[in-house]
Amino acid sequence: MNCDFRTDFPIFSKYPEMVYLDNAATTQKPRQVNEAVTRFYEEANANPLRGVYDLSVKATEAYESAREKVANLIGAKDASEIIFTRNTTEALNLIAYSYGLSHLHEGDEIVITIMEHHSNILPWQMVARQTGAKLVYMMIDKEGRISPEEIETKITDRTKIVSIGYVSNVMGVLNPVEAVIKKAHSVGAIAIVDGAQSTPHMKVDVTELDCDFYALSGHKMLAPMGIGALYGKMKLLLEMPPFLTGGEMIEYVEQQSATFAEVPHKFEAGTVNAGGAVGLGAAIDYINSIGLDYIEKREAELVKYMIERMGELPYIEIIGGSKPCDHHGIVTFMVKDVHPHDVASILDEQHVCIRAGHHCAQPLLKFLGVNATDRASVYFYNTEEEIDRFIDALTKVRGYLGYGA
Ligand code: ALA
Repeated sequence: MNCDFRTDFPIFSKYPEMVYLDNAATTQKPRQVNEAVTRFYEEANANPLRGVYDLSVKATEAYESAREKVANLIGAKDASEIIFTRNTTEALNLIAYSYGLSHLHEGDEIVITIMEHHSNILPWQMVARQTGAKLVYMMIDKEGRISPEEIETKITDRTKIVSIGYVSNVMGVLNPVEAVIKKAHSVGAIAIVDGAQSTPHMKVDVTELDCDFYALSGHKMLAPMGIGALYGKMKLLLEMPPFLTGGEMIEYVEQQSATFAEVPHKFEAGTVNAGGAVGLGAAIDYINSIGLDYIEKREAELVKYMIERMGELPYIEIIGGSKPCDHHGIVTFMVKDVHPHDVASILDEQHVCIRAGHHCAQPLLKFLGVNATDRASVYFYNTEEEIDRFIDALTKVRGYLGYGA
């Protein structure tokens, strides 16, 4: 295999000095994806699903073929169980507004974890507010883990929805989603997996997991921004009301009423992001050509190396698990005495891009007793040399601010 992936990413030749370690926020895009999007607009552009003329049929085929690719990537048996959304946030909101508001009542409980991204918290706060249901949190230990007791005691007969991130966007910890899904089903609740930080990095099989819903974002896996997907079990999608209404999601419209199109189109109101979907399809082709086994192994090597090298700096504290395998692509940390935003700015002066802040997970940071952290996150195209540059940049941070080593 030719492992020189970097030549596929035009941004790396445009900024040869850049060390990009903010992949959990968004990944860079390979030429193959950019070209597929351009090709769609230059060779197949028409409004999909509407026209009977050839070009519209071509656009529809391109769009639906991307849906098949998403289904195959995550092990969905039926491509109709894939709904295109803008991103994971929109996918989770779709479930909350459609399933949550129509199924929950006062006294019901929604269970999430304290480490969720805001997009897997706020939609459930809204459902709780509007239905009288209660939002319950599974807590974590010092290593960022959810214990079997926590799963056992928080998911009860009152639970109707359990929603959990597969991989934490702050700590990189892999959550015990299988155990959570099993427990949710044992009490008659549905189980939702936020796959924003798992899908780009590891093999996922929604059929094996037996989750009821699974959400993902394209832009975190080489695709353009503005395209994501929601997998849902057909029997749930069939009974759910639409989230958005309007063009192309209907069967018949009368003056006072309407009937809706079949799944998945019932959930895709308005002109769809066909170019984005085609880009996501091309990103999936690219990922498959490399192999998720390789990607997972390579990222584990990079993270292990990063954590080893960070261990040489006594003023760095890594948040979360003590082992490299607790950090799936993501290493969140603090530099003693220095505000995380200052760390990120000083690194930026040395062309190293990391994220600083609350990472859209304020309840988790409050639980950890911090307001902000720094986060370095890798993808398979990063290199050991880049990690060395990151470490070199880190060694300068405290000196810049007048602290000793
Ligand atoms: N959800 C993205 C992150 O964690 C933006 O950085």
